[in-house]
Amino acid sequence: MTQTLLTGIKPTGTPHLGNYAGSIKPTCVLAAEPDTRSFLLIADGHALNAIRDPQKLRRHIAEVAATYAAFGLATGRSVLFRQSDVSEIFQLANILACYCGKGMANRAHAYKAAVARNVEAGKSDSDAGINMGLFTYPLLMSADILAFDTDLVPVGADQRQHVELTISLAQSLNSAVGHALRIPKVRIDASTATLPGLDGRKMSKSYNNTIPLFCTREQLRKHIRRVQTDSRRPGEPGDAETCALYALYGAVASKPELEAMRGEYAAGTGYAVIKEQVFEALDRALAEPRERYLAFLADRESLATTLVKGAELAREVVQPVLARVRGAVGL
Ligand code: TRP
Repeated sequence: MTQTLLTGIKPTGTPHLGNYAGSIKPTCVLAAEPDTRSFLLIADGHALNAIRDPQKLRRHIAEVAATYAAFGLATGRSVLFRQSDVSEIFQLANILACYCGKGMANRAHAYKAAVARNVEAGKSDSDAGINMGLFTYPLLMSADILAFDTDLVPVGADQRQHVELTISLAQSLNSAVGHALRIPKVRIDASTATLPGLDGRKMSKSYNNTIPLFCTREQLRKHIRRVQTDSRRPGEPGDAETCALYALYGAVASKPELEAMRGEYAAGTGYAVIKEQVFEALDRALAEPRERYLAFLADRESLATTLVKGAELAREVVQPVLARVRGAVGL
């Protein structure tokens, strides 16, 4: 039996190493498994709740598309497409909305975090500046997943709650109208799920501590040199496990390479040397996909063609699912 895998990236920034470690790399591994069909969704409908600059949105959509394509996720058994090209997803989101308690959306972490920021800032309206796109975010994400009869959703740890919401929403619709939706499973890659950024906190656009996935070799070296370390001096033994550099190395290094690196820490190798090694390893791993990424970005027409084809394939899959759900709910 073929299993269906689906994941998405919100095009709200330039893809960074954290996206690679937490989502793209584990997705590549899963997508390469036999009997797997993968759908890679560019969540431009989601990005719309945060981006007010159309040029910027278009640029980020192209960057995300070129990134997936660079890792071979737009060919063979992998289908790359834009969410907004598949209108069935939005129809399904609308149906799901009617089966979703408002309290469920109240508890979704992106919305809760935005409310908490307002409260902290002492605003009289805790919903200040929050749009309905943000509030209904988990509904659209649920529709992304459920429209494809998805079996497996590989995501970073921060997205676990959203997928759990999807599961309980699907279960409550099923128990109300009979089995209409396939129940997916979430997959969090434990080894590389969260990568530290330049300051040691989780690498995230919102912390402004990201390392771009595709920058020039020299820019990458500069970024790695800036990664914060403790005050250990060369010659003093250190602990790899608590070091951001070692975690970054883990995004591309094999098990034996990681073991050797732990040996370097134990032997007191200084951070300047370790930084150079980590930089070289990252650069080696990313050089080829970087070439392909730049080629895709330079050829917007072929990128557009890829996305149109992807959307056609996606719609073939979601149309019967939507028809089934419509029938089940009585439309
Ligand atoms: N919410 C995800 C993120 O912010 C992106 C996303 C949108 C997604 N739709 C999805 C992830 C469906 C997995 C499945 O990273």
